[in-house]
Amino acid sequence: MHISLGVNGQPVEADVEPRLLLVHYLRDFLRLTGTQIGCDTTTCGACTILLDGMAVKSCGLFAVQAAGREITTVEGLAPHGHLNPVQEGFKECFALQCGYCTPGMVLASIALLTSNPDPTEDEIRWALSGNICRCTGYTNIVRAVQWAADKMRATASAPTGMGAILAANAAPSASLGSSQGQASSQAASQASSHGGHDG
Ligand code: FES
Ligand code: FES
Repeated sequence: MHISLGVNGQPVEADVEPRLLLVHYLRDFLRLTGTQIGCDTTTCGACTILLDGMAVKSCGLFAVQAAGREITTVEGLAPHGHLNPVQEGFKECFALQCGYCTPGMVLASIALLTSNPDPTEDEIRWALSGNICRCTGYTNIVRAVQWAADKMRATASAPTGMGAILAANAAPSASLGSSQGQASSQAASQASSHGGHDG
C-alpha cells in the first residue's frame, strides 16, 4: 500500500506491506532507531512515539494506520541541537541510565505536559504507567518531568521582545535565567541525594 505521512516535520512517501508494524517501519525503513523495541506486545512503552501529538505505542499499530498523520520520534525533539525541556529535565535530574526506555518516557512526558502543563506527581506517574524502566527507578523520572513542567511554564509566562527588555531593566534579580538556574541546581542536588534506584 502507498502511504503519505509526516515524520519529524518532513513529508514521507512509502510503499509498505499492510502487515508491517509502525515500529518496524520507523526503525528498519527510516532508520529512526531511537524508537526502541522492548516487548513487541504493547507492554513496555519503549516504542512510544507521538502520533498527531498523542503518545502511542508504535508496536501496536500498522504503518498504514499512520497514513495522513504526523509522527514525532525522539530524533525530532532537538532540532538544531536545542534539547526539549523534557530531555533537559532527564539530564538535570539523572533520570536515565541505559536509556532503553528513555525515548518513550520522554515522548510520553511531552504528551502529558502538552495537555496538562502543571501535573501532580500522581498524574505524572499515571501518564507514565505504560512505560517501564528496568534500571533507574521512577523517582528521578518524575522529578525530571516536574523540572520540565516548571521550565515550560516559566518560559511560557516570560515576557518577550520589548516586554522582556523592560522587565529585565525593572527587576534584574528576578530574571528567568537566575530562577531556572536555581531550580536546576535544586533538582540536581535532590536527585543526587536520592541516588538512582529509588522509586
Ligand atoms: S515494544 Fe512496544 S510496548 Fe514494548
Ligand atoms: S534507563 Fe534503562 S530501562 Fe530505563
